[in-house]
Amino acid sequence: MSTLVDAGPRPARTAVGRLALASLVANILIVVTGGAVRLTGSGLGCPTWPECTDTTADRPGSFVPHGELGAHGVIEFGNRLLTFVLVAVAVATLFAVWRTRPARRSLRRLGLLLALGIPAQAVVGGVTVLTDLNPWLVALHLMLSMVLISLAVVLVHRVDEGDGPARPTMSPAAVWLVRTTFALTWMVLYVGTVVTGSGPHAGDADVPRNGLDPAVTSQLHASLVFLLIGLTVGAVFALRATGAPRDAVMAAQVLLGVELAQGLVGFVQYATDLPVVLVGLHLLGATLVVVAATRLLLLTATAARPRERDEWRKPSPSCRVAQTVVNQEVRATRLRHSVDPWQ
Ligand code: HEM
Repeated sequence: MSTLVDAGPRPARTAVGRLALASLVANILIVVTGGAVRLTGSGLGCPTWPECTDTTADRPGSFVPHGELGAHGVIEFGNRLLTFVLVAVAVATLFAVWRTRPARRSLRRLGLLLALGIPAQAVVGGVTVLTDLNPWLVALHLMLSMVLISLAVVLVHRVDEGDGPARPTMSPAAVWLVRTTFALTWMVLYVGTVVTGSGPHAGDADVPRNGLDPAVTSQLHASLVFLLIGLTVGAVFALRATGAPRDAVMAAQVLLGVELAQGLVGFVQYATDLPVVLVGLHLLGATLVVVAATRLLLLTATAARPRERDEWRKPSPSCRVAQTVVNQEVRATRLRHSVDPWQ
């Protein structure tokens, strides 16, 4: 089965590849630091914007927090800094994918979506604040970040692939199983945000909750996780049994490992009244589940990688001269051989 896959030369990791990876890391970090701001109640750690502190009678305004703001100031400031990094990386990625030659439409589309995701998140974030951290909007804000992480994984993967039609790398039944696992992953994530909206970490101590019973939402969340783990175990066996490519089998095993670790953290945090460190770890785990599930989905099909000679490098002028000389030699040889030897 794996022989179906075009094993063309793998192009050296380009600037686009590195930027795509930076985009992925920055999107994961912004989720984790955003979670740290929420979980530690550091939202006003820097009380003003764009400076961290205003000018007062005894102290000039400053863009960085001073000692009196304590850990809250550092956490909020770190999150602000990271937002700048995220914007810079998204713009650089967009610029790089636009300059890729030959033009790669799929890369441009992904770069654009990742860049547009930032203003979209700014709007959702702003409306969330205006609605006093409405838990449904807080959930939407996190889910959008998860979508951006998933898109960044696609970009990292696509850099090494072609734009031709995708060909399946595994049996239709295995593809179906992987797709169902992927869809269920998003349900687990969404229900997770609903659990948060019903519990103590929905924003701030005084913000409204979604009114659902935390025990019931947690039960639904955990039941979906059991189903997800069951499906992923099924996918690992199905992929092995049907001779799917090794990297796809590995990706399914990695997904299973991340789900088990994340499930363990989920149970421990539930049983220990949601300590913020574990809730933060659970948030990081959720981003890793998205990465692993997206990667497995991408490995169900492949578009041939661009071949170095055909697509990635235009011939240099000296190469073109050499080619012309060779062509002339070939023509001259043909001419010599076309002379009738009997004359
Ligand atoms: C694949 C496994 C899992 C994934 C992908 C996952 C994902 C998530 C996500 C995305 C959130 C929302 C985080 C937030 O809004 O800050 C969440 C919250 C939560 N999850 Fe999970 N989860 C998993 C397993 C579990 C399990 C097995 C339990 C056990 C009951 C659990 C218990 C919770 C609880 C209690 C919350 C609310 C935490 C809070 O109040 O902030 N999770 N989960």
